[in-house]
Amino acid sequence: MQEGAILITGGAGYIGSHTVRLLSSQRRKIVVLDNLVYGHRDAIIDDQVEFVKGEVGDKELLKELFSRHAFAAVVHFAAYAYVGESVQNPLKYYRNNTSEPLALLDTMQDFGCKVFVFSSTCATYGVPEVVPINENTVQSPINAYGRSKLMLEWILADCETAWGLRSACLRYFNASGCAEDGRIGEDHDPETHLIPRVLMALTGEAGPVEIFGTDYPTPDGTCIRDYIHVNDLATAHAKALDYLQTGGASLRVNLGTGKGVSVREIISAVEAVTGQSVPVIEGQRRAGDPAQLVADPSLASDILGWRAEHLDILQTVRSAWSWMNGPTKGRYSS
Ligand code: UFG
Repeated sequence: MQEGAILITGGAGYIGSHTVRLLSSQRRKIVVLDNLVYGHRDAIIDDQVEFVKGEVGDKELLKELFSRHAFAAVVHFAAYAYVGESVQNPLKYYRNNTSEPLALLDTMQDFGCKVFVFSSTCATYGVPEVVPINENTVQSPINAYGRSKLMLEWILADCETAWGLRSACLRYFNASGCAEDGRIGEDHDPETHLIPRVLMALTGEAGPVEIFGTDYPTPDGTCIRDYIHVNDLATAHAKALDYLQTGGASLRVNLGTGKGVSVREIISAVEAVTGQSVPVIEGQRRAGDPAQLVADPSLASDILGWRAEHLDILQTVRSAWSWMNGPTKGRYSS
């Protein structure tokens, strides 16, 4: 049992809700702050968790919450995460992902809360020269989403110098899968991510899946990604919290499996899991997609003792499929 409550922003979102569930099962006192723009109230299934609807940039609300709880740490998920939208509407991303969290950091400084776990992304690397990507790879994002996250990484480092904030920047690769019992899962609107999109082509929620590019310099011509199960991400957050709360130094680590899977391999995995044939259209490349993004996750293993446990893509796809076939058919009601 950890001393002091943990504030989790964006805890009603996809990765946030799986992490809230894990941390709460470890009997930590959790307060979730989420504006429910993309999150779902129903994704918080533990009654012990206090839920507050509000904005990360609302200083009055933050002051009230920090006065009431004396938080030991903050886990910050709240962000927009549509890469394409960030290119069309960059200010929305800089405002929400970079500027709004300043109020949160201000409040943490005022209240002496000095532990911060941050949802960063492999999008901060841009198009890497070498794969797998380790943490020494130059961070050169190619879109506003990646830059909005990288700037917050820099801000956290500056806060450490100035007032001793210790942070864990967790650079996720492709979050995927759902809770194995199908009680919580991935419900984005619009849904653009590959695995749910392929499954939706089978449930009839969407038309045939379009493969964005078949002429990449990869063995089967389609993009390769590192699909990391959302519960492995949740475990990494728990380990990062333990590590920082027991005095560990700030860290920046990749969270991935270390294994690359192509778009065609995902489609084959879906066909193997469901026993159905996926309707496919071969389309053009999507702007801004690097050919390959695969993590070297060894630093997270060395520092946190964390390793992905879901290494079989069939297992990950199966968990996403059971959520889509569960009682709510992959959709929250609120
Ligand atoms: N893809 C298709 N068809 C689709 C959807 C996706 O072919 O309908 C392909 C994409 O081109 C890509 C792969 O499937 O090659 C995975 O695409 P996703 O949209 O699922 O994920 P991304 O790799 O684009 O995005 C993820 C995260 C972002 C993060 C980014 C880093 O969702 O938050 O990785 O590049 F920024």
